Amino acid sequence: MKDNLGAAVIGLGMMGERHAQVWADLHTTDLVAVYDLVAERTNQVASDLGCTAAASLEEIINARGVDLVSVCTDDQSHREACVAAAEAGKHVLVEKPLATTLEDSEAIIAACEAAGVKLMVGHICRFDPHYTACRNAVADGEVGDIVQVFARRNNITASGRRIGPRTSVAFFLGVHDIDLMCWITAARVTRVYAESVSKVLADLPAEDSIMTLLRFDNGAIGCLETCWVIPEGTPNTLDARLEVVGTEGRVAARLGGEGFEQCSQERARRPDIVYWPQMHGRGEGALRRQLEHFADCVLLDEDPVITPQDARHAVEVAVAIHRSLDTGQPVELS
Ligand SMILES: NC(=O)c1ccc[n+]([C@@H]2O[C@H](COP(=O)([O-])OP(=O)(O)OC[C@H]3O[C@@H](n4cnc5c(N)ncnc54)[C@H](O)[C@@H]3O)[C@@H](O)[C@H]2O)c1
Repeated sequence: MKDNLGAAVIGLGMMGERHAQVWADLHTTDLVAVYDLVAERTNQVASDLGCTAAASLEEIINARGVDLVSVCTDDQSHREACVAAAEAGKHVLVEKPLATTLEDSEAIIAACEAAGVKLMVGHICRFDPHYTACRNAVADGEVGDIVQVFARRNNITASGRRIGPRTSVAFFLGVHDIDLMCWITAARVTRVYAESVSKVLADLPAEDSIMTLLRFDNGAIGCLETCWVIPEGTPNTLDARLEVVGTEGRVAARLGGEGFEQCSQERARRPDIVYWPQMHGRGEGALRRQLEHFADCVLLDEDPVITPQDARHAVEVAVAIHRSLDTGQPVELS
C-alpha cells in the first residue's frame, strides 16, 4: 500500500484554497499542484503552500505524482475537469453539487467507472456530527417509520450576491439538504413542488428563496427551505436546521450558533466552528474529515460514504425543483 498520495486542486476560490491547505497538511497526502483559470491566483496559492503552479488543466492532471484531484470550480463547470482527471486515471473528489445537469452528472460517473477511479462528491454535511447523530438515531430505529422531514439552509445576502449570477440557491445550498434528507431517512424523493421569489436579488437575476414540498418513496413528506438573502447584520452567516419526525420519535439538528460568540462595538458574530475552523494553526472540522475519508478510501480501496448515485439523485431533485418552478406544476421523478 502506498503511504502518501499526491493531491492536486483545480479551482482556487473559497473552497479550493481550503482543500489545498488540508491536502498539504494531512499525514496521508502531499499537495503536488494547484491550478485556477486566473494565473495570479494559481501562483499565489502555489507560493503560499509550496507546490507546483500549473498553467492549464492538462498540465495539472498530468503533473508528476498526482494520484487524486479536488475539483472546486463553479457548480456548472465540474464536468470538464472531472472527466479529464478520470481519463488520466486520477481519483476524483468534486465539490457539491456533482453537476447542475443530469447529463453532466452521468458523464462524470461514467468516466470514473470506465477508468476504475474513485469518485466522491463533497457533501460536507455528512461529516458534521449534528447530522451523523440524526442518521445514527434513525438507522437505529429510534424514530420509527418516517412521517415528515424538514430542512432549512439560509445564508446571508453576501452569499447570494457572490454566487447568484453563476448558479441557483437550489444547487448551491439546497443540494446539501436534499442529500441529508435522503441519507438520514434512507429514502429517495419521488415528487417535488416548488415556489420561489426574487426581490433582493432581482437585479442579478436570481431567486432569493425557494420553498419545496417533497414526497419520498417511504411515504414520508418533506419541506425544504432554502434562502440566501438573510440580512448582513445577522450574527451567524448560516442558519440550518433539520428535523425528522417518525412514528416512534423525533431527531433535530440546529446549526449556526454553536456556542461561540464574538462581539465588537458594532456587531455580534457567531463564526463557523464546525466546517473549517482553525485549530492550533491548521484547518479542522468537517472539511478535513471529508478529505481524510476520501484519501483513506483511495489508500485502502474502500467505497466512500457518499456514493455517486446518491450525488446524482441530489442533482436530479434540484433539476426537478427548477422544472417545477418553470412549469408551476409538481414534478414526478422516475
Ligand atoms: N462544501 C461546502 O460547504 C461549499 C461551500 C462553498 C462552495 N462550495 C462549492 O465549491 C465549488 C467552488 O465554490 P467557491 O465558493 O470556492 O467558488 P469561488 O468563486 O470562490 O471559486 C471558484 C474558482 O474556480 C475558478 N475556476 C472557474 N472555472 C475554472 C476552470 N474551468 N478551471 C480552473 N479554475 C476555474 C475561478 O477562477 C475561481 O477562482 C462550487 O461547486 C460550490 O458549490 C462548497
